[in-house]
Amino acid sequence: MTRKLRVGLIGAGGIAQSHMRGWEENENAGVVAICDIKREARQDTAKRWDVAKNALFDDYEKMLEKVELDIVDICTPNASHRAPTIAGFEAGCHVLVEKPVAISADECREMIKASKQADRLLMVAQVLRFGVEGQTLRTWVDAGLVGDIYWSQCSLLRPRGVPSWGEFIDAEASGWGPCYDLGVHILDMALYMMDFPEPVSVSAATYLELADRPSLMKHDPAKYTVPEDMAAGFIRFANGATLSVQTSWALNVTEAAGRMNIILCGTEGGLQYSPPTLVREENGMLTNSIPQVPVDVPEDGFAAEIAAFVEAILKGKPSPVPGEQALITQRILDGIYASGDAGKEVKV
Ligand SMILES: NC(=O)c1ccc[n+]([C@@H]2O[C@H](COP(=O)([O-])OP(=O)(O)OC[C@H]3O[C@@H](n4cnc5c(N)ncnc54)[C@H](O)[C@@H]3O)[C@@H](O)[C@H]2O)c1
Repeated sequence: MTRKLRVGLIGAGGIAQSHMRGWEENENAGVVAICDIKREARQDTAKRWDVAKNALFDDYEKMLEKVELDIVDICTPNASHRAPTIAGFEAGCHVLVEKPVAISADECREMIKASKQADRLLMVAQVLRFGVEGQTLRTWVDAGLVGDIYWSQCSLLRPRGVPSWGEFIDAEASGWGPCYDLGVHILDMALYMMDFPEPVSVSAATYLELADRPSLMKHDPAKYTVPEDMAAGFIRFANGATLSVQTSWALNVTEAAGRMNIILCGTEGGLQYSPPTLVREENGMLTNSIPQVPVDVPEDGFAAEIAAFVEAILKGKPSPVPGEQALITQRILDGIYASGDAGKEVKV
């Protein structure tokens, strides 16, 4: 290794701080430039993580022109993922982009195309995959203990959890609400275990019942312009598998009932997300297995996701979370909204 890979951060807000911690821990890469349209964000982040003051930019095109970079790390709001991703590829960089990959499947397709044209990796920051639960479940899947997963249910229902920070509730910046913020995490996790089967149709309902009126929550309801505060969908795949997904930022439900829950049922065994559990027939009994010593993965999922990306670049391996997988998730998200609008099942 002659030199560290040089990283340019685009968007220095909340989640970028977790990425910066991950880059700082990485031996083979480091952030050398930061771009944020807000001066305070770029300056505070540079100070906190010791990035040179003369490497701060308010425009990512300028950053890409002036600084020699190997990687761009995009932590901007959802509607601002596509353009810097494409600019990053055009500048010859590998791109790590926050979830959801984009705000439509067409945008995602453009990003994949740009990645292929530049022959650089596109990785979507689906951080949960790198945590102990995700890696434990995947270990059982890889060992053939689950068989073919034919039904899955995933839910993450915040009772009163509309974000009052960032631009999550602004439709122009973020596109959609809890489905993009939370739904994308649980969908990705379920699809990762199911090996991303081809989706065929979606039947969904989206609701906006609580978040646009005064409430116990801290956000300004007048600024709530994303279309939903709750969504529920049912997805059919070409291989016959089905998946049901529910997510909310605001719902009259208990914390306990709303906690992140992923169930995956296969021909040989079943999986539950937390604590990671394998359910199988053993010795004439239906048995739950919960590891006492779990898989050995780093505690910090962000550091692990960044380490996986850097390793893939250095060793010429495929992207740990490729655009093609994110495209399947995005097609389902597009389907949820289209079906919610149409009030009937739609083809994906
Ligand atoms: N993986 C996770 O668990 C997780 C958690 C939170 C957010 N996210 C994702 O991260 C992204 C950012 O979320 P956040 O909470 O950090 O938002 P944030 O509002 O705190 O930060 C976004 C930053 O991007 C900057 N920005 C906006 N447009 C820009 C542009 N064109 N060029 C440069 N900078 C620009 C803003 O000024 C802001 O500082 C979203 O896509 C969100 O879905 C992921």
